[in-house]
Parts: sequence; C-alpha cells; structure tokens
Amino acid sequence: MRKKLNLCINNLTQRLQLMASILPTDKKRFIDELIDLLKIPTISADSKYNDDIKRGATWVKNALEKAGCLKTEIFATKGHPIVYGERLTDPNLPTVLVYGHYDVQPPDPIELWESPPFEPIIKKTELHQEGAIFARGACDDKGQMYMHIKALEMMVKNDELPCNVKFMIEGEEEVGSDNLELFIEQNKEKLSNDVILISDTGMISNTQPSITTGLRGLSYMEVVITGPNRDLHSGLYGGAVANPINILTKMIAQLHDQNNHITIPGFYEGVEDVSEKERAEMAKAPFNVEDYKNEIKINAVYGETGYTTLERNSIRPTLDVNGIWGGYTGEGAKTVIASKAHAKISMRLVPGQDWEVISDLFTKHFKSLAPESVSVEIIKHHGGQAYVTPTDNIGYQAAHMAYTEIFGIEPIPQKGGGSIPIVPLFEDVLGTKSVLMGFGLDSDAIHSPNEHFGLFNFFKGIETIPLFYKHFVDLFNKNRLEAIPSTKNIDSRDTLRVSPSQNNT
Ligand code: BES
Ligand code: MN
Ligand code: MN
Repeated sequence: MRKKLNLCINNLTQRLQLMASILPTDKKRFIDELIDLLKIPTISADSKYNDDIKRGATWVKNALEKAGCLKTEIFATKGHPIVYGERLTDPNLPTVLVYGHYDVQPPDPIELWESPPFEPIIKKTELHQEGAIFARGACDDKGQMYMHIKALEMMVKNDELPCNVKFMIEGEEEVGSDNLELFIEQNKEKLSNDVILISDTGMISNTQPSITTGLRGLSYMEVVITGPNRDLHSGLYGGAVANPINILTKMIAQLHDQNNHITIPGFYEGVEDVSEKERAEMAKAPFNVEDYKNEIKINAVYGETGYTTLERNSIRPTLDVNGIWGGYTGEGAKTVIASKAHAKISMRLVPGQDWEVISDLFTKHFKSLAPESVSVEIIKHHGGQAYVTPTDNIGYQAAHMAYTEIFGIEPIPQKGGGSIPIVPLFEDVLGTKSVLMGFGLDSDAIHSPNEHFGLFNFFKGIETIPLFYKHFVDLFNKNRLEAIPSTKNIDSRDTLRVSPSQNNT
C-alpha cells in the first residue's frame, strides 16, 4: 500500500514538472484555436447550417493534420461528413481510436444566452475560478474533442506518442449518428483498434474526478393526436367534440403512476435490479441534495419512489416529454379547439431494455390510451442501447492511473444518465471497449443556454490524455508478455490483438 502511494506521489511530482512545460503561449494558442472552432455554428439538426457543418469538418481535418496526423480524410455521408485522421507508426504497437463530435445542439432559446452562442467569451464562474469559455459546444463536444487533438500535438512534439492513433470525429451525434453506424460497418479494418477513447461525458467535480462507466439507452418518439378535420370555434363545438390537446395531456398523464413508475406494460421487463452492493457503492459518491436543489433552483427533488436522486438519474429508466405544442400560443386569447396536438417524448433506458422493443411497447400502449374520437400517429425518431464499461479492463485501469496522477486523487467510477448511442455499436461492430474519460461538469449547461467549459478542465484533459496513452501501452505490453508462452515467440499482430479483449473479463 505504502509503496503504491509513494509511486503515485513520485509520478505526480514528475507530472507537475512536465505540466510546467506546457508553455503559457501554447495555452493561449490552444484557447484561441478552440474559440475559432466554436465560432462555426455546426448545428446538425438544422439544414440551414449545412455549409457551416462542412466548414467545421474542414476545420477539424486541418487541425488533425497540424497536430501530427499523417493522413486525414473527410468522408461524405447521406447526412453530415465524418472526419478521419491517423498517425500509424508501428503495426506492432497498439492503436487508440479517438471518437468525438463536432456538431452541436441548436442554441435556442437564444434570448436566454448572456452572450451570443457562437461568439465565445471567457468569464469566471463560482466553480470555474480560472475562467470558462462560454459558447454552444464549448463542453459538448468541441472543447472536449479538441483536448485530444492538442494532446496529440504535444505527444508528437515531445516525441512521447507511444502507439498508433486514429481519430473519428463525426457531425451527427446530436441527431442520432445514423450514418456513422453504416460507416463503421463498412470500414471495420480502417477503424480497427485496441481501445476507443471518448471525452463526451462529465466528471463529479474539479476536486473529485470520476470515470463514466455507463450510458443510458434512448428511445425518442413523436406523437400526433388528430381530432376534427379543422380548428373549431370552442363555443360552437366545445364540450361536444374531443379536444386533441385535452386528450393528449390526459394520455401523457397516464404514462406514470402515483409512484412515478412508468405504466407501459412490459417496460421494466429485463431491467436488472442493481445489487445492494452496487447501490451502497453509488451512495458513497460525493453528492449533496441541498446543493443539487440549489444549483437548479428547485424546492424539492422528484422521481421514482424507492430510489435516490443519483439512482434516478443514472441506473433507472425514465420517460419525459421534451416538447408539446398545438392550438393558439400567440399574443392575447383565441377561443379555439385545435385540430391537432403534438408531443415529443423520450425514454432513457438501462441495460436489459432493447430500444426497439421499448419503442414498439410505447406505440402499442399509447395508442390504446386514446378514445375513439381521435386518431393517433406515432413517429419513431432515433434510439440506442444502454452501455456499461467494466472496470477490470486495461482501458479503464489506464484511465484510472492517468486521472490519479493528474488530479492527485483517485477517480470514482460513475454511471452517467446521458446517451451516446454509437458507443454500444462500436463494441458490437469493432469488438473493442470504449473508455469514457469526461472532463465536463453537470453545471456546464450542455444543451442549455450559456453552455461553458472550464479552462482548468480543458487543460487537465490535455494533461491527462497522454498519461492514458502511456499507461494503456504499458498495460497492453504487460498483458502481451503474460500471454506469451515462454518458449514461443510471437510475431503476428493478430495474435497480439486478442490479448486486451480477452483480459476484459
Ligand atoms: N455528450 C452527450 C451525452 C452525455 C453527456 C452523456 C453527459 C453523459 C454525460 C451527447 O452529445 C448527447 O447529448 N447525447 C444525446 C443523445 C443523442 C442521440 C441526441 C442525449 O443524451 O440526449
Ligand atoms: Mn456530446
Ligand atoms: Mn449532446
């Protein structure tokens, strides 16, 4: 134990010396470059921005080239382009595949931004005393993705890159990664790797890092209720005709019971009960419900009976209305029964639930709730499966060591509530695990007005990533040696590649 601690302190001191070697001029340049990228409104959901998306892709390609990728390409898809880059130096060394996204969520409601979303500025906040960059995409995911490009630049410059590296930066994450799925299926060899490294999640706080060990799945639906064939005078017809908005809200209200359990038959089938041991482990994570309430200005938390707040937002499935509209919403009053009412409804899913099955169960149940007097149309949007990373594989262990050295404290494994639907597909198609090394904070307001990313977090990320590479390659080689029967020499790359996944037990 003592020995381990000493080792850690030594590494930390060494690391602090190395950190001083990131010149202040480099730091300033890294920020300026990120600001430049954040000025491009790469909004994937809105086709008005297609040219900006293209500009964003080219920007990322050039950045990869400047940082040391020996080959870079832009792949057109049916949707937005995928940027690929690689620096392959030795086929006997392992390969890290970095995944990230350059697309962002729409910035609206725009009037709630204190500064324009695509005119980045640096401001101090209570949690970010060293300043944070405010812009759409600052944290999700341009800032976090860019840490990897700058880490590559530093490793190449200092001759410290210990392995091969590939980058795949997509432009459709925020709209479901539909075309990326096809791309990885058609480019398995090009994307072959020993571990996938992603910074698109968060951590507990700047003094308590954590590594994300789970992502929730997602099923995203849209519903349309249609009553009469036209809008009606609510005096002439009111009371005698089903009002689609009244009906829709009634139907939505029936989707949860008084304990906030979801009422869709079969919804919980297959959901694994998290063990008491894991729940106890989760409860150890630093979390203060008063701070939580205070940060988002609510008087009380709310959710499924029998579960804590941390459990409700990570290991339990949920159903939420994301948007609801219909009828008259303009100024003043208009007495009308609208012909149609609409809602967008999403469900976050956990291991054991299949998003396509859940989408079908929702459809069947929702239709059954409607009275005869209206018709129901259901549109299935994107979805994805949940994902769990085990902690006993060398990818996780390398991340654990890297965070420990840079933050001076061990990171805590924590399941995240968000979704990155491509991650489980990576494992299915490419056969390797993803390591989710996030550096954002929940309070960084991703998807919200005034999204920001701490400069502290940005630089900590750039410092932690090279250590991940170093430890991953060390552990990989150690495993490889252990896997070699002492009398035989191994010379085939394929034989070697097997070892990391076999050790992921
Ligand atoms: N980076 C997020 C996901 C995330 C954030 C996971 C924080 C864990 C912690 C990603 O860009 C995202 O927003 N995903 C969407 C799903 C996607 C299909 C639109 C989500 O979770 O809503
Ligand atoms: Mn993201
Ligand atoms: Mn996002």
